[in-house]
Amino acid sequence: MPRSKADIVLGVQWGDEGKGRVVDSFAADYDMVARFGGGDNAGHTLVVGEQKLALRIVPSGVLQERPQLFIGGGTVVSLEGLASELEMLSGLGVDVSRIKLSDRAHVVFPYHAALDRANEKARGDAALGTTGRGIGPAYTDKAARLGVTFAELRKPEAVADKVRYNLLARAAALLSMNAPPNADDIVAAMLDRLPSIMPHVVDGVAYLHDALESGKRILIEGAQGTLLDVGYGTYPFVTSSHTIAGGACTGLGLGPTAIGRVVGVAKAYCTRVGAGPFPSELDDEAGARLRERGGEFGTVTARPRRCGWFDAVAARYAARLNGLTAAVVTKLDVLSHFERIAIVRDYRSGNRSVDFGAANELGLAPELEWFEGWNQDISDVRRIGDLPDAARRYVKALESALTVPVEAVSVGPERSSLALA
Ligand code: GDP
Ligand code: IMO
Ligand code: MG
Repeated sequence: MPRSKADIVLGVQWGDEGKGRVVDSFAADYDMVARFGGGDNAGHTLVVGEQKLALRIVPSGVLQERPQLFIGGGTVVSLEGLASELEMLSGLGVDVSRIKLSDRAHVVFPYHAALDRANEKARGDAALGTTGRGIGPAYTDKAARLGVTFAELRKPEAVADKVRYNLLARAAALLSMNAPPNADDIVAAMLDRLPSIMPHVVDGVAYLHDALESGKRILIEGAQGTLLDVGYGTYPFVTSSHTIAGGACTGLGLGPTAIGRVVGVAKAYCTRVGAGPFPSELDDEAGARLRERGGEFGTVTARPRRCGWFDAVAARYAARLNGLTAAVVTKLDVLSHFERIAIVRDYRSGNRSVDFGAANELGLAPELEWFEGWNQDISDVRRIGDLPDAARRYVKALESALTVPVEAVSVGPERSSLALA
């Protein structure tokens, strides 16, 4: 069997593009779906028939029977979070023995979540609006060589000492809390969880490469979105991991030559949860309408998502960063019945166009281009060519911004609500 290549599906905006539902649809054709980064700051919603599922750490292929599910080494995983997701999935009749976790992944402890919330509080008005799940502090510990890997959990006594040391090292930060985390409680809860978690832990590098070398088809699932990347997003209003395609290589221990397709998922408009620049944000009636029609409330935190027009300059920036080969546009149905729809066409300084990254730092105002809307329900359309003319013109404009072919457009949350090229 020839060695196969892994394909990537990832978000090109600020997260919540609908990656989960796209991965769910694609996963039927793959032997494995692998997450490469983030933790339970992610919330990926699947709707299959009457069933609606919000996943945080388990890959979105879980409702397809075929694929194995792999949580890669670049992720940060809460024991409580994973255990409760496994229980929830078992309760739905899912065979959770298909779910494997890399021994290189890092543990998110309750003190990470406590520190995340304390850091946000200390920032006051300058808070980032994190999900409060401890993601930043867990990645900070990883870089500071204070983190605990799932490999280390094979020897829990040594981890107990490390937890005690980590709490001591943070005495100052923890002392200011009303109910500071207690090392003995954390260790006891950890020991309690290990019997249900450890059977899922594998040598992640061998697991993934053995699969590739035996010709298995692997789909890599992104979390968050390109503009939340710690290096190339709207820093410091970003998450703490690399969310772009390069992050899939480091997060799974893959070389770039192992990657095949890179599919970018773009919502037909933009949303963002939490603070930070959002040049096309709408504070008016149109923004409220997008929020209401799109159900734009966070999967993890239930916070209202900020809403605005599609940003074509940001899309081009994301296409470059990820080396996209194709795109999927989601939630086009939400724009039906708008009289007119805008996209950000340009950022200008004098008579010069400025790219997304620099435009943000300079605080440049976006220039909009207007499109005629379509006053028609499109939720039953299953071929892009069958969309109303105005909707097709709009999708063409997004395609030219994304610089790659749009191979599917979603027109409703349900698995089958997908119009193909
Ligand atoms: P993810 O984090 O990228 O997987 O996206 P989320 O699941 O956080 O947010 C996407 C939301 O939009 C979910 O509630 C989906 O059920 C919903 N959704 C996905 N695709 C469509 C679509 O085509 N139309 C509509 N109306 N809703 C959609
Ligand atoms: P999915 O995978 C949308 C945002 C948070 C905050 C910033 C930092 O569902 O698309 P963090 O808790 O990661 O330190 O928060 O990143 N954020 C997301 N926004 N979708 C997500 O994931 C997100 N994950 C993190 O709102 O602004
Ligand atoms: Mg989400």
